[in-house]
Amino acid sequence: MQQLNANSLEAFWMPFTANRDFKKKPQIVTGASGMYYQMNNGHRVLDAIAGLWCVNAGHGHPKIVEAIQKQAAQLGFASSFGLGHPLAFEYASRLTSVAPEGLDHVFFTNSGSEATDTALKLALAYHHARGEGQRQRIIGRQRGYHGVGFGGLSAAGMGAHKKQFGMLLPGAAHMPHTHDLARNAFSRGQPSHGAEIADTLEQMLQTYDPSTVAAVIVEPVAGSTGVLVPPLGYLERLREICTRYGILLIFDEVVTGFGRLGRPFAADRFAITPDLIAIAKGMTNGAVPMGGVISSNEICQKLMETAPQGTVEFSHGYTYSGHPLASAAALAALDVYVNEGLFEHATLIEPVWEEHAHALKAVPAVVDIRNIGLLAGIELGEEVASGKAMAKKVYDFCFERGVLVRPVANTIVLSPPLVISEAEIATVFSTIAAGLKTL
Ligand SMILES: Cc1ncc(COP(=O)(O)O)c(C=O)c1O
Repeated sequence: MQQLNANSLEAFWMPFTANRDFKKKPQIVTGASGMYYQMNNGHRVLDAIAGLWCVNAGHGHPKIVEAIQKQAAQLGFASSFGLGHPLAFEYASRLTSVAPEGLDHVFFTNSGSEATDTALKLALAYHHARGEGQRQRIIGRQRGYHGVGFGGLSAAGMGAHKKQFGMLLPGAAHMPHTHDLARNAFSRGQPSHGAEIADTLEQMLQTYDPSTVAAVIVEPVAGSTGVLVPPLGYLERLREICTRYGILLIFDEVVTGFGRLGRPFAADRFAITPDLIAIAKGMTNGAVPMGGVISSNEICQKLMETAPQGTVEFSHGYTYSGHPLASAAALAALDVYVNEGLFEHATLIEPVWEEHAHALKAVPAVVDIRNIGLLAGIELGEEVASGKAMAKKVYDFCFERGVLVRPVANTIVLSPPLVISEAEIATVFSTIAAGLKTL
């Protein structure tokens, strides 16, 4: 067996990483503050993707650091299975006070994957409690990403993530995605065309029968597939069809929650209330793992009132649900978001962000630019294969020059901390522009 020394890179099997490539040319972060990462080679890198769509208040926010340190000294762990500790209750109350009206309960998880799986299980359990246990089908969408648990992965629509894992959940079906280069390329904010794509849901209901469908799950803005902004009127139609057929609508707001679109949730920005919202990432500013599902009162009450007294109403939970350190970090993060006006800052700076993003339109390799809130996707190349190589090249170029972007297939995606300044926005896009010139 190969001997590993203390500093070997071999033992850590890295997630969603080309391990062999990385380990030939490792990029190691040793610290971070505000908008910047500190690399082990002394490099400072402007983080234009907020860690991984999560560090919305910037890295190492002192208030969040202090809250975690204090909590670690006071109570590092207490189970939430039949016990409780104050911060989880306090945070749940605070969070639901900023959540859309009628969604007043939160179930805690530790990640976005667990959040989507929990939301899907809540949907099944709700229908079961209503005496409609035959509603088991889950409808997701092509190009959707809902994490890597068996439920979320089944509902997701990115084939490359599924090919190693067999059949997954039976009964998952998928609506078409909304990306439409021919009609919507270079839209600013919500594209004009495509509301009617939602009607395919109704056609699918003819195929499966609505009485077999438990829930529809979508990201309000699809993130991981390359930032796909919903066409005007599309989400409204989805909501309307779900309501008409008694199907729950789940918004996966793991990326869009906590200010990414300048509001607490995408549900606020689009003025659409789903039945369940899956959250994670920005919840704790990425500082301690945490996720959750915010539930409608109807779903929670149905499960409470139909279970016999003295029994568990929802047979589900994680050892670390409502973990004290995560609760402390989440409370502090929410305080920072609200008290420092970060959602308002995101809203104010969105036009600057949009202007800079769309200034790249003239570059021949750029076939589409999409943006909403502090999200952007710059799609490259007529063909995905060549676009992918170009996106990787631009990523490498930018990283060398101290800006971290994220290449996903043929698209460069951006989702900076909400605290980004105008000057930093200019740096991000001028560096990308210089990278595009090298293609
Ligand atoms: C929309 C969405 N849902 C779920 C997840 C999964 O979250 P996690 O990686 O915390 O499990 C992600 C992660 O990027 C995501 O973007």
